[in-house]
Amino acid sequence: MTREIFIAPSILAADFARLGEEIAAIDAAGADWIHCDVMDGHFVPNISFGAELIKAIRPLTKKTFDIHLMIAPVDPYLEAFAEAGADVITIHSEAGPHLDRSLQAIRTLGKKAGVSLCPATPESVIEYVLDRIDLVLVMTVNPGFGGQSFLESQLEKIRRIRTMIGDRPIRLEVDGGVTRDNAAAVAAAGADTLVAGSAVFRGGNSADYAGNIAAIRIAAEGGRVPKIQDNSAQAVRVGETARLR
Ligand code: DX5
Ligand code: ZN
Repeated sequence: MTREIFIAPSILAADFARLGEEIAAIDAAGADWIHCDVMDGHFVPNISFGAELIKAIRPLTKKTFDIHLMIAPVDPYLEAFAEAGADVITIHSEAGPHLDRSLQAIRTLGKKAGVSLCPATPESVIEYVLDRIDLVLVMTVNPGFGGQSFLESQLEKIRRIRTMIGDRPIRLEVDGGVTRDNAAAVAAAGADTLVAGSAVFRGGNSADYAGNIAAIRIAAEGGRVPKIQDNSAQAVRVGETARLR
């Protein structure tokens, strides 16, 4: 199933002193989702913001709020994030002992449930929860900070998860170091939802954001188009094989 590409700017890279204006700017610039990175200084070595901030910015846009929880434990806080206005709540497979239970809790709260995998975590952890999730988030950096470099090693994981998902209505999101330069490879591997912090807020001026988002989207959409050159090369190979027979 080919799904429309979604671009989800991470507000971690926004100017926090002007957060309301920054959210209005990415909304107007064509963001599909608003990605909110919640960090606790325990599961990851950085502290960002919590449910109260999300509640405060929720009325500023109608876009889907994509909440990425990098916190442990996670269960005691799910209700607060649901009430703050989350649409999708994504938790880390590494953050607690009972992934299946935590995912059920998110859906019971009436929210879409996502599971995120750190770079060293194999895709097999989602095998038995595939029917409980609406989204898989593949981390392409070690979580905790924006502005890190994309880990190429994760492209193979993205490809494998795309195959595991099959026809299920599950979004495959990629987060960390995504830029206009690697968006095509990410989409070619099977991702349909691209988080980008630094690459969207690059320039620090709201006038830049629409161009930044469009550049990532166009590159990602281009990555999905079957390559004519590859097809013709394959046709040549098939022809050669036929002649050899
Ligand atoms: C990292 C966060 C990411 C981060 C992305 O822990 O989950 O969402 O903000 O930022 P960039 O796009 O700058 O890597
Ligand atoms: Zn994130």
